[in-house]
Amino acid sequence: MKNVVIIYWSGTGNTENMAIGVMDGAKSEGANVKLLSVQGAKVEDVLKADAVAFGCPSMGTEQLEESEMEPFVESISDAIEGKDTALFGSYGWGNGEWMTDWQERMESYGARIIEDGLIINNEPDEEDIEKCKELGKLLTKA
Ligand SMILES: Cc1cc2nc3c(=O)[nH]c(=O)nc-3n(C[C@H](O)[C@H](O)[C@H](O)COP(=O)(O)O)c2cc1C
Repeated sequence: MKNVVIIYWSGTGNTENMAIGVMDGAKSEGANVKLLSVQGAKVEDVLKADAVAFGCPSMGTEQLEESEMEPFVESISDAIEGKDTALFGSYGWGNGEWMTDWQERMESYGARIIEDGLIINNEPDEEDIEKCKELGKLLTKA
C-alpha cells in the first residue's frame, strides 16, 4: 500500500478543501493517507512517504505563506530529493506566479513533480474538487 502524505497551509479554508479532495482521491485508490496542517508536520513525515502533496495559497505578493509554510518548505529541501511530489493551492487575483516559482524551487531541490501545480481561483467548486481528487489518484500511481 502506498503511503501518501498531504501537508498544507490554509488561512480561509480554500486550500484546505483542496487538500481534502486530494486525500479523498488518494484514498479511493487504496492508499494510506496522512493529511497534516503544516503546523503539525515534520520532515520525517516527508521522508517516510512514498509520495507527497503540498498545498499553500498565494500569499504576500505571489509568495508562500511566510511564517509556517515558507520555513517548512525550506526545511524539506534535502528530504524531498527524488520523491514523487504534487503541489496545489488557491489564489485570488494573481496569475499563478507563486505556483510556478514554487514548482521551480521544488525541482531545484530534486523533487519529482508528477504534474504541474494545481491552482484554483478562490473557493473550489465541485469541478475543481474533482481535479483535486484526480491529483490524489495520480499520487498513488507515480
Ligand atoms: C495577505 C494575503 C495576500 C494575498 N496575496 C495574493 C497574491 O499575491 N496573489 C493572489 O492571486 N492572491 C493573493 N491572495 C488571495 C488568496 O490567495 C486567496 O484568498 C486564497 O483563496 C486563500 O486561500 P486559503 O483559503 O487556503 O487561505 C492573498 C490573500 C491574503 C490574505
